[in-house]
Amino acid sequence: MKPTETESSPAAAPVRAPEAVFEKIAVTIAEHPAEACRQLAAGIRQLIERRQAEGRQAVLGLATGSTPVPLYRELVRLHREEGLSFANVVTFNLDEYYGLERHHPESYHRFMCDQLFDHIDIDPDHIHVPDGTVPPDEILQYCQDYERLIDEAGGIDLQILGIGRTGHIGFNEPGSTRESLTRRITLDRVTRQDAATDFLGVENVPRFAITMGVGTILRARKIVLMAWGENKAGVVAEAVEGPVTEAVSASFLQGHGDATFLVDRCAASHLTRVRAPWLVGPVEWSAGTAFRAVVWLAQKCAKPVLKLVDEEYNEHGMSDLVTERGGGYPINIEVFNRLQQTITGWPGGKPDADDSNRPERADPYPKRVLVFSPEPQDALVAMGGVLERLIEQGHDVRFVAMTSGSLRVRDEDALRFCRVLLELSELSGEESWGGQEREAEKLVRLLDGKAPFSEDPQEVRRIKALLLRGEVRDACAVCGLARQRVLFLDLPFYERGRYRRFLSGPDDVQCCVEVLREFQPHQIYTTGATADPSSLSAVTYGVLESAFDQVRPESWSQDCRVWHYRCRENPYQPHEISMAMPLSPDQLERKARLLLGFQTISKVELAVCDENRDLAAAYDRLGLAEYEAIEALQRRR
Ligand code: PGA
Repeated sequence: MKPTETESSPAAAPVRAPEAVFEKIAVTIAEHPAEACRQLAAGIRQLIERRQAEGRQAVLGLATGSTPVPLYRELVRLHREEGLSFANVVTFNLDEYYGLERHHPESYHRFMCDQLFDHIDIDPDHIHVPDGTVPPDEILQYCQDYERLIDEAGGIDLQILGIGRTGHIGFNEPGSTRESLTRRITLDRVTRQDAATDFLGVENVPRFAITMGVGTILRARKIVLMAWGENKAGVVAEAVEGPVTEAVSASFLQGHGDATFLVDRCAASHLTRVRAPWLVGPVEWSAGTAFRAVVWLAQKCAKPVLKLVDEEYNEHGMSDLVTERGGGYPINIEVFNRLQQTITGWPGGKPDADDSNRPERADPYPKRVLVFSPEPQDALVAMGGVLERLIEQGHDVRFVAMTSGSLRVRDEDALRFCRVLLELSELSGEESWGGQEREAEKLVRLLDGKAPFSEDPQEVRRIKALLLRGEVRDACAVCGLARQRVLFLDLPFYERGRYRRFLSGPDDVQCCVEVLREFQPHQIYTTGATADPSSLSAVTYGVLESAFDQVRPESWSQDCRVWHYRCRENPYQPHEISMAMPLSPDQLERKARLLLGFQTISKVELAVCDENRDLAAAYDRLGLAEYEAIEALQRRR
């Protein structure tokens, strides 16, 4: 149903950028999520204040997940610092996990209270979040009532949305129809997988949810869908440029008169105007653009780079490049060489070699190297092979686990360990154990009596962190790294928060500054530059950036190169890679074994070995040498 209201919408209908010819929904690309959220919050403020002046209510449709976190922070700031009142605001949330009580730590009701409602002056009677505990035989009536309440409130003025990797809006998983209304739905496997970390394992993620339907959402007068980070790029492009289909419920927004996608650069990166701008209009053919375009063309034509012909360039918007360079073949050779030069078995640089065309410089040798890992296992997943090679090649490597990772350790694993400790202490007798026995007893008691997902007491977090420490040290030892070279920063923000709710502070930055000053590295490996800002890797990256800003005036930092790896995000594609490090079959096997040593490793993380193989296959198809597997890094620009 199209909006029928004649009153003015909260802001003017979206305007399409002229270069957006492939886009069927208006897309605004912001430099940063924070900036985008400031603008959106300003629009919400206008709506609320206009309604206040009219003596009326403003009706907001709200979303949960990582994506709206920066928006809610900005709204809370507007309330606290600029006196914005929410007294006339009525809210309807999109969805709730079925089976969760409203106070469950992972319920969306609790999330909304923590992120927004508890910090503003909204009337509790104006808040509507679907109830996850309605008995099965009352669900139908409950959902019809939810629809009625929305209509009685005058309909939704502004609906905020995120997008899941299945393309869902709300929990409208693939198969949801355009007409669907509020109902109970079975969650998709991918959606449950994405929530697995929050729930400490996919098996704990509820199977069902109550969600507004696509039809409910489309009745809103204005819709803004937000998406941040590289791993939303694919589904954003599908929803915006692809066909309208039940397979991607966000694509139904193409039929709404006032829907906008508000995305950051990373989430926009698969849109045609960003990914292949030569298809949209004339481009400046810098060496970088030409490289990207030719790799894209070879993949598009499913041909090795050296076999591309002029006609293929012409047919894909690249005729001016061919004219400029006097033919396609010289470009093929240039691009082939550049791809070839990304491949190296010497991630720390090859000593005494001509390094003019190598990804990393030869000198100094050996290099001081810091490998930063947000949670302890992240860097091993993404660059276990590179780490092994750096150590083998004699560099002075430190592995820096930024957070304790204790949130990932399951209660049952900690409990099993503590029970063993207790039994051992009983076997060994009181004399040798003393205090430790009492400690083990206390931990068993704490863990035994703990409700699943409730906050861990400090003692429990500590034992979980120690368990993970042991696993990381063992894994690093497989790579040849001595135990004392594995550092644990235990950044304080992690100990204060939960996933999606982390807030870093100056104490975190100070920890990183100290490590940087002490080791004065020549190389830093880190992740998170392109991730959703509320994710752990983005938060730790922000901390590291601030630390780096502080040491920038120090002379050693001029000689420090930063390399990015990707973990749990879209793996790098050949055109994005500055260093491709091949792994032998044996090395890949070792990496898989090393990862299996972690009790906390997820299926998604284990899939990295397949991704490493896929990347090698992609290089092979481009006409380069055929390797078993490749790990990829990008040099920070
Ligand atoms: P996210 O979820 O914001 O946590 O990525 C979005 C969604 O599933 O709608």
